[in-house]
Amino acid sequence: MAIDLNSILSSNIKNMKRSVIRELLKLTRKKEIISFAGGLPDPDTFPINEIAEITNEILMDNGKTALQYGATEGYIPLREELIKFLATDGVKADLDNVIVTTASQQALDIVGKIFIDPGDVVIVERPTYVGAISAFNSYKSKMVGIEMDDEGMLMDILSEKLIELDKVGTKPKFIYVIPDFQNPGGYTMSFERRKKLLEIASKNNLLIIEDSPYRAIRYRGETIPSLQSMDKEKRVISLYTFSKILFPGMRLGWVVGPAEIVDKFVVAKQAMDLCTPPFNQAIVAEYLRRGKLYDNISSTIINYKAKNELMLNKLDEYMPKGQGLKWTKPDGGLFLWVTCPDSVNTEDIFYEAIKQNVAYVTGSAFYGENPQYNSLRLNFSYPTLEQIDTGIMRLAKVLENNLK
Ligand SMILES: Cc1ncc(COP(=O)(O)O)c(C=O)c1O
Repeated sequence: MAIDLNSILSSNIKNMKRSVIRELLKLTRKKEIISFAGGLPDPDTFPINEIAEITNEILMDNGKTALQYGATEGYIPLREELIKFLATDGVKADLDNVIVTTASQQALDIVGKIFIDPGDVVIVERPTYVGAISAFNSYKSKMVGIEMDDEGMLMDILSEKLIELDKVGTKPKFIYVIPDFQNPGGYTMSFERRKKLLEIASKNNLLIIEDSPYRAIRYRGETIPSLQSMDKEKRVISLYTFSKILFPGMRLGWVVGPAEIVDKFVVAKQAMDLCTPPFNQAIVAEYLRRGKLYDNISSTIINYKAKNELMLNKLDEYMPKGQGLKWTKPDGGLFLWVTCPDSVNTEDIFYEAIKQNVAYVTGSAFYGENPQYNSLRLNFSYPTLEQIDTGIMRLAKVLENNLK
């Protein structure tokens, strides 16, 4: 007799859905399709030769440790390098403030695991990162989204929402934000808004989760201090990853925060994977020790800046004019966000776009509740310059046909 899977599945897994983006990506695998859908880094930025050389050295000199189990907190030489890297960005941390994670997606899952009980309210941006939505949903959170503009989350709306929640006796567990070159919106939170956010969090005694995968990838303008560096009250936990500044394939990230919270991360992570692969940590620690990460970030910025500028120019050139279309102009990161008039549903026209051999991610994937259907996300790190030109021309045609 076949197993009745439904009767044995946990309510948790029943609550979880496949990632919309991964499902969409399946449709975009045809060779002819120019995909602005994924969030992949350009593999030309991966320092393959240096990693090959270091890998060989690690195996020969340190293989017995590198291939052994490691501490849940992470490999100490890597954490020491991370502390130096953070210091260049104004963040002071000691070893007990830093835990290595199996990239940021694991950190998001741990955030859910240690803070969310079913029904707990968490505050997120509108739109927000789809992987955070899945992670928090898997712990059955109730997401409350706060609208954004070009300077990030709207603080007046956040204050009003907190008052509203307080009236019904609800205290959110945390506020989750992606302050730099947000995924999906490309928005960067201004310094004033960051100050205000910390003030509001302080007044309401709330924790802030700062997710920061794109922070180092800035093409223009001045760096704005991170929430972690501005925090004086130990209420910010920051998530970082090597996925976009080095490569995603080793699945390496790290979390910085107050020691007593990092300790909870250690406990939760122990039950997940015991430790992040020590071999990967040893390789990346040596890469950092050689000071190579800065060179890699610099060349990645040169590569993506050209793509970012080209995509913005081509949107200006090809997109229908005077029809209410607008898009963000991110100063860094990997994505920009196109908003169409309300009459356009980007889920409906997705299949037409696929027929025209161009793909994007529908904006509706990025809402924790009450999705909006008139937006779409474009990635510019993965396609080539030529593909960006042709792909935006194709997308403009699809939008033009649907605006009439
Ligand atoms: C905002 C944000 N957080 C976390 C992640 C997860 O990245 P990773 O697990 O590769 O570190 C991503 C990946 O795109 C992201 O955009």
